Amino acid sequence: MAKVKVKSIYSCQNCGGQSPKWLGRCPDCGQWNSLVEETFSSAAPAPRKVKRLAAVSPKPISEIERIREKRTLSGIEEFDRVLGGGLVNGSAVLIGGDPGIGKSTILLQFMEALAQQGKKVLYVSGEESAEQTKMRGERLGSTCKDLFVMAETSLEVIEGEVDRLKPSALVVDSVQTVFTEELSSAPGSISQVREVAGRLICHAKKSGMALFLVGHVTKDGAIAGPRVLEHMVDTVLYFEGDRGHPYRILRTVKNRFGSTNEIGVFEMKEEGLEEVRNPSMLFLSERPENVSGTVVVPSLEGTRPVLLELQSLVAPSSFGAPRRTSMGVDHNRVSLVAAIMEKKLGMKFVDMDIFVNIIGGIKMEEPAVDLPLALSLASSFLDRPVPAHTVIFGEVGLAGEVRGIGQADLRLKEAAKMGFKRAILPKNNMERLKTKGIEITGVATIREALDAAL
Ligand code: TYD
Ligand code: MG
Repeated sequence: MAKVKVKSIYSCQNCGGQSPKWLGRCPDCGQWNSLVEETFSSAAPAPRKVKRLAAVSPKPISEIERIREKRTLSGIEEFDRVLGGGLVNGSAVLIGGDPGIGKSTILLQFMEALAQQGKKVLYVSGEESAEQTKMRGERLGSTCKDLFVMAETSLEVIEGEVDRLKPSALVVDSVQTVFTEELSSAPGSISQVREVAGRLICHAKKSGMALFLVGHVTKDGAIAGPRVLEHMVDTVLYFEGDRGHPYRILRTVKNRFGSTNEIGVFEMKEEGLEEVRNPSMLFLSERPENVSGTVVVPSLEGTRPVLLELQSLVAPSSFGAPRRTSMGVDHNRVSLVAAIMEKKLGMKFVDMDIFVNIIGGIKMEEPAVDLPLALSLASSFLDRPVPAHTVIFGEVGLAGEVRGIGQADLRLKEAAKMGFKRAILPKNNMERLKTKGIEITGVATIREALDAAL
């Protein structure tokens, strides 16, 4: 009999690259100190190279029957929307977010909502005991008998229980704590995470059970472990928010069953997370009127418009190098817009500190924030308030031109609904507008926008 040899290989915990010997720096992704030893036994059978035909042979696409995915609505509308309109049977969803942001809480609430409809669901926690989960559940008012809870970290045990219980949805909180006995590397290492996720996803696809995996995030906010995890699942959600604020935002970054950039807004309360059905109202609730530097932006998050308050403060700098601090808007964008304004409007920001913030801990990544950003900087610089009841959106080009953006009608409708009277937007968007009940000013350059707003 051949002797079983144990081989070891070093794999990068960042990108999954492999090397036969330990290296200080991964040659594939350049990450330092990310290689970890993993051992394999050579007893595995050698792969056979035999050509075979598939059980179901390839078909012309026109002959494939269309099936509508089966969806379950939990009744938690903010969550259902983020999933693309309900939970798809057999889908795998990965949820990432900072520790303590509320991932366990929202999933327990979601599971309870499913259990209330008579569906058997299983919540596996690798981080808290069953009693701790029960305590949390009681606080949230979830006590349904169809909600099963287990504290377990062994993949084999979880698979066994899933086979026995046959739940219609399974939560594994978190994927980094679960390990398979087949691999000798530590829980949370790249090969463990990949194997655990792979096997659970495979089970979900076969049985039609919906799977939620909770993923830890690294210092810079990405889901820890292999990037492949994000490729393996159908949907990736991030739960974000500012610890200092009660608002939490569930954001879709990938969805095979719906649109991305969808958001669900929640408020963390004593008795768990509560849905915020009208986020515009929430984010504008404490807005000061007739103060310079503040502007309302109708931003579009997925298919849903949300009015946000953008604030800027431009103040003389007391040090040599002026500061550029921004929260919610990419700081490169702030520098760029400030540079365009210096060049085109002659505003001198050289010895000025610039602070930019979007209220409520929200991030805005779409280019429609350029024009409101420019006008809020100008408003603070000139110390003249933008008139109340005005919303602003548009992209700004390097030549100071204002460019059209998508879905202007949707944004205007939300603004009109929230009682805004006037909108400043790209001239380019004017032609196709259908919204009534709001006065519209189209602008082609940043100079025109300034004249219109201030
Ligand atoms: P948790 O869901 O444990 O976060 P995660 O799983 O993402 O690490 O949320 C923990 C935080 O939520 C904790 O700081 C307390 C707070 N919380 C409430 O404010 N109200 C509640 O009803 C619950 C259950 C938690
Ligand atoms: Mg947790």
